[in-house]
Amino acid sequence: MKLRIGLIFLSLIMTSFAGVLCTSQPDYGLVDLNATAVPDHVTLSWTSDPMTTQTVTWRTDSTVQNGSVEYSMDPNLKDKESIAANVSTLKTDLGDQNIHTATITGLAPGNRYYYRVGDGTKDWSPVYSFMTEAEDTNSFKFLVFGDTQGDDDANPDYSLWQSTLHNAYKANPDARFFTVVGDEAQAGLSNLHWNHWFAACKGVIESISYVPVAGNTECRDMARDHADPSIYMGQFNVPNNGPYSNDQAYSFDYGNMHIIVLDSQLREEQEINPDLLNDQKLWLDKDLSRTTKEWKMAIWHKPPYYTRVIRTNEGIKAAFAPIIDKYHVDLVFNGHDHAYSRTYPINNDSIVSTPALGTVYVVAGRSGQKVIDDNVQNIWCASFYNPQDMPNYIVVEVNGSRMEMKCFKMDGTLIDDYIIDKTSGDTPRTIVPVKYNEPRLAINGVLLNEPMLPTSPSKINGKWYFPIKPVVLYLGGSESVSGENETLSLRVKNYIGPGIVWSDKKVHAIVLTNASTKATLDNTTISLPDRVIVDDDKNFLISADDMKTLCGFTWKYDSDMNILFLINPSKPGE
Ligand SMILES: [Fe+2]
Repeated sequence: MKLRIGLIFLSLIMTSFAGVLCTSQPDYGLVDLNATAVPDHVTLSWTSDPMTTQTVTWRTDSTVQNGSVEYSMDPNLKDKESIAANVSTLKTDLGDQNIHTATITGLAPGNRYYYRVGDGTKDWSPVYSFMTEAEDTNSFKFLVFGDTQGDDDANPDYSLWQSTLHNAYKANPDARFFTVVGDEAQAGLSNLHWNHWFAACKGVIESISYVPVAGNTECRDMARDHADPSIYMGQFNVPNNGPYSNDQAYSFDYGNMHIIVLDSQLREEQEINPDLLNDQKLWLDKDLSRTTKEWKMAIWHKPPYYTRVIRTNEGIKAAFAPIIDKYHVDLVFNGHDHAYSRTYPINNDSIVSTPALGTVYVVAGRSGQKVIDDNVQNIWCASFYNPQDMPNYIVVEVNGSRMEMKCFKMDGTLIDDYIIDKTSGDTPRTIVPVKYNEPRLAINGVLLNEPMLPTSPSKINGKWYFPIKPVVLYLGGSESVSGENETLSLRVKNYIGPGIVWSDKKVHAIVLTNASTKATLDNTTISLPDRVIVDDDKNFLISADDMKTLCGFTWKYDSDMNILFLINPSKPGE
């Protein structure tokens, strides 16, 4: 008894503490967002065939040990049937809550069903409804949202997410499901954030199925420590057909589309599962080899075709993109960067002329508060928009062999409209990027033009050389020359080099000397594969291999565009 009183007292303290934290309460129409005996967080999802089954999940406080779903084709639940739910306890930082889950089976395809959830006796939800997938449908619509997270760990505010979701659903009441490309919660190990997130989803998530995707913030608490995304995994139910028995990777079919969800959080989860990417690669290959669906779509959080200047996800690209290529996945949705970006069709990390030959990667923008300023239209972006003024959402409509994807601002203003028609190509027709007469230089996908680039990259003794100063300046560093243009000192931060940790926030010094194959990095001498050259215009040139040795950047030359790419490798999984 003492323990119980203690827990109630602790829970009261936490509840009031949560109240203190929320100084400006968003208008969700709710005062207390914590679990009670009355069901809330009622969520539809699929764990099996969307034509004949529907999974319903809800929560209560931990005193409610029984759960039941009553359902019928009649709005008043006449001739209702009922099934019992599985009940499990989810431990959160705000205390235990019970999660109730039931999968209704044996439903008729293409029908509307009415349902309510409760304890079977006195505490019930309102009556909601859902539609089962129609038989042999090749015509359906769904909604895709960028990161919904707020921007303040201590003051969760998901009111913009609420507006974006509700505006999108109001404009598309015929949408059959919706997904968020990860980073639902700003601090996913804080139940306060989920309380706000679900409150914002109320009115939609109990009416159409949710397709959950984990992002990096699902794995962290308010102190920014990382762990398994336990609250995320504890409250969503999805097909148990991935490499793990959790919600992180899975696939399902809807109409003529095969849909895959992956987990890109290696950096956050590597202590728990260092094989996260390898496990999923093997599974993805098998999963895609089995599908015969006309459309294939994959969703994961960290974008292989990123839009931020100094954050790449090359490890994720290396893991998943070759399998995406192998099975010609039509469309990939990602998040993380909070810009909207649609790439040209891409195959083997190169831009191709038609979606029949490659995959279109979409970074979904943002649907919540958080904006990111250093987004850019990289070379691979055919369409780009950084939603600074208001959030955005995406509507995808499939009609047989034709798929149309539209991106809107929250207020309904159209940002992008792209059609892939498997019988006639794409609209607007892919225009392959220009091939430059003189070689150009790109850093993390961003093209450096004159006057920033004083001289083009060129081949010297068979090796690619380029001026180092503009690269350092572009990355936010500085330079100074001494000794009659014989020595160049560079100060840089936030990059990977031998022994240098990404984002260590420290300034590092590189010294290069004309005609030398020795450089110093933070006073340590480093041997370079090629000698430094100072040209007639006093530009310090280094080779692409020197850059790799000094700073860890990888490089590739794209002859179709005549561009030398320098690529800042990320930590694995970042
Ligand atoms: Fe995010």
